[in-house]
Amino acid sequence: MHVLVTGGAGFIGSHTVAHLLTDGYRVSVIDNFSNSSPESLRRVANLVGKSPELYNIDLLDAPALKNVFESLRPDAVIHFAGLKAVGESVAQPLRYYRNNVTGTLNLLEAMEAVDCRTLVFSSSATVYGESTALPLLETTPRSATNPYGRTKLHIEEMLEELAASDPRWAIANLRYFNPVGAHESGDIGEDPQGIPNNLMPFVAQVAVGVREKVSVFGGDYPTVDGTGVRDYIHVVDLAAGHLAALNYLQGSKGAHVWNLGTGAGSSVLEVIDAFARVSKRPVPYQITDRRAGDVAENYADPEKARLDLGWKAERGLEQMVGDMWRWQSQNPTGFPDREFGTMSDQELNEFIRGE
Ligand code: WQD
Repeated sequence: MHVLVTGGAGFIGSHTVAHLLTDGYRVSVIDNFSNSSPESLRRVANLVGKSPELYNIDLLDAPALKNVFESLRPDAVIHFAGLKAVGESVAQPLRYYRNNVTGTLNLLEAMEAVDCRTLVFSSSATVYGESTALPLLETTPRSATNPYGRTKLHIEEMLEELAASDPRWAIANLRYFNPVGAHESGDIGEDPQGIPNNLMPFVAQVAVGVREKVSVFGGDYPTVDGTGVRDYIHVVDLAAGHLAALNYLQGSKGAHVWNLGTGAGSSVLEVIDAFARVSKRPVPYQITDRRAGDVAENYADPEKARLDLGWKAERGLEQMVGDMWRWQSQNPTGFPDREFGTMSDQELNEFIRGE
């Protein structure tokens, strides 16, 4: 089976590509490397002993997208490509709508043109907005509190309406909680550009000495220790969830939705303590003001994915932190910077094959 992965050079994408290749799928990747590096796929190829086919394409380049679909004619698509920084989306809403929503629309039209109607979509628990009814169920009402979350909500609704209009579509909306961790080799992992927005990569950079201390956004929430609680999920568990959803869609048309979380919450201080314990490094922190838009606590009810997909997260916080620490300590500044934009697709594929 041939799967095309958008954003496949990214954090979750590269881990999912590794799992697909290991399981014998033919994999094509399209990525514009705006928040990723082909180096991740070179390392995946080295780890797995097989490489995907890589194309430097932006989802906003509709003609190029149609051409690549006409030549590849994949059986299914896993769609990761998208901008995902909450704060940035508040400052640049139109860029987020164009990139995430228009990009997805271009993708769907390119798929339809070649009769490819199986899609796994990278959605997010952010579509639950500031719901305080915990644990979060797939039936929990959706809302958006920022443009990024609203793009995910709009895309989910677009996909539901598409499936309702044409019964040939088989669609899985996967609502991620907080993806963290790294492949056990430490060769691939999360490589955020600039100052990390998210907690775990920031803590990892403090532990490895790249940053001075962690700002804990709020210490007076009604939680176990006053700091924010989230449902962190290991990226390798998350990748497995995508293959389980892809498998489910082989026999089920229509639009479906699943939470991909562990069902357990961890506080900011618990994460910091775990990192200090596992890395045996000091992780200094300072309690500061709350971050606008944050909820006190959220975590999933992952039962539906267990019942429907036979999937559940296997890795706990200690392993998430241990695997993330191995990646960070082996790659203190992430993937090496290289200019890939000028490379042809042929040169890119030679690069990831190590030729
Ligand atoms: C986690 C906790 C912060 C940074 C967001 C998006 C979500 C998904 C994951 C894309 C919170 C606290 C954080 C820091 C801190 N992104 N924190 N100091 O906000 O739960 O989710 O990222 O798909 O859609 O909404 O993740 O890692 O930013 O924050 O104290 O430097 O850590 O307040 O309690 P979040 P996060």
